[in-house]
Amino acid sequence: MGMRIMVVGGGGREHAVIRAIRKNPAVTEIFALPGNGGIAADATCVDIGAKDIDGMVRFAVDQAIDYAIVTPDDPLVLGAVDALTAAGIPCFGPDRKAAIIEGSKAFSKNLMKKYGIPTAAYEVFDDMDKALAYLDTAPCPIVVKADGLALGKGVIIANDREEARQAVVDMMANAKFGKSGSTVVIEEFLTGPEVSVLAFTDGHTVKPMVSSMDHKRAGDNDTGLNTGGMGTVAPNPYYTPAIAKRCMEEIFLPTVRAMNAEGRPFKGCLYFGLMLTPKGPRVIEYNCRFGDPETQVVLPLLESDLLTVMQAVTEERLDQVEVTFSGKAAACVIMASEGYPSHYEKGFPITIPAETAPYVFSAGTALRDGQLVSAGGRVLGVSAVADTLTEALQLAYGRVSTIHFDGAFYRHDIGRRALQAGKESV
Ligand code: AMP
Ligand code: GLY
Repeated sequence: MGMRIMVVGGGGREHAVIRAIRKNPAVTEIFALPGNGGIAADATCVDIGAKDIDGMVRFAVDQAIDYAIVTPDDPLVLGAVDALTAAGIPCFGPDRKAAIIEGSKAFSKNLMKKYGIPTAAYEVFDDMDKALAYLDTAPCPIVVKADGLALGKGVIIANDREEARQAVVDMMANAKFGKSGSTVVIEEFLTGPEVSVLAFTDGHTVKPMVSSMDHKRAGDNDTGLNTGGMGTVAPNPYYTPAIAKRCMEEIFLPTVRAMNAEGRPFKGCLYFGLMLTPKGPRVIEYNCRFGDPETQVVLPLLESDLLTVMQAVTEERLDQVEVTFSGKAAACVIMASEGYPSHYEKGFPITIPAETAPYVFSAGTALRDGQLVSAGGRVLGVSAVADTLTEALQLAYGRVSTIHFDGAFYRHDIGRRALQAGKESV
């Protein structure tokens, strides 16, 4: 009997997961909840939102789903994996108790302090007057973060005290990030290259994936607002084998052990957002899931079968499967809607040549009378794999140039810093 798989979510990351899962010959049907216009070419999209936990459980039971994969932060933090598991559906993803590692920055910072995991020094405040008083003597620049989920936008790097005070007032008094900002974390400003490492873990074994580098600012040369991510490359040249070893010993294993000790064993993909500071690697953030758009460069380099690895995580036998990567390089350039991450227009027809389509991960797209149209801020992730990063970038940008929709914009410098670090020429 073939396997029926359900993937919760509807972004470029989910499209990359679906493409990887499809490679397993035992898979006969993949449902995406809700998926998107482009994903519809690779899976059956079902109109159930990623936060509709009751709806997804009912669908999984009715459709006799054999395995569910939950990748977005919201359903994980809301307990989608708990609900599906209770209904007898085997699942990939952490339960609600473990997803708090992303759901609350105060939790994750306290965890790191308690277990000696290196991170920026910090204080947590739920009282605005105390937060403002603390800022009176704190050094600048300084970083102010909303406690809860804020789509990667709840982080303010304040260059001076006035900016920091404004950020605290916006979050705590003006509720700029809703309830997410009623508690704030104020932390030390760190410097150094950033590395994303996604790792499979079943609570016992940790198997890191190939490292990657995100580009978070909207504009070229890291200008403009923070976004969900405008492009990625893998591997990340700053992440040397020596640093990888240190991260495993000082960060990855201690984190998994700490979660166990807290009675919150983590099973799924644990995302380490790291900064390689002059004093060593530091955790900037944990995510309880695959990164977006990191997944779009990491999974195309995965040689092992993704579904097999995921099932091994669920069944806590990750030590028994191989997780190998190809040794090639990958790049992904996000094509976004003009104005993202602030206001933007949607509904523009998208044209993608047939030969380019297999390399395009669809994010904010919809189908309107059979025509693919833009439907979000980040619209497409255009990817390539090649022997070197230089070639992968050339291929990816070549593909970008063949795609059209009105108001499309993208960064022109994805991978530039990685190439400089890797001492390759463009
Ligand atoms: P986060 O959502 O916590 O990953 O933060 C978003 C971005 O803000 C990170 O990718 C960093 O570029 C930056 N950032 C966060 N925390 C710090 C920090 N303590 N020092 C310097 N930059 C930071
Ligand atoms: N690319 C960063 C994230 O997924 O949060």
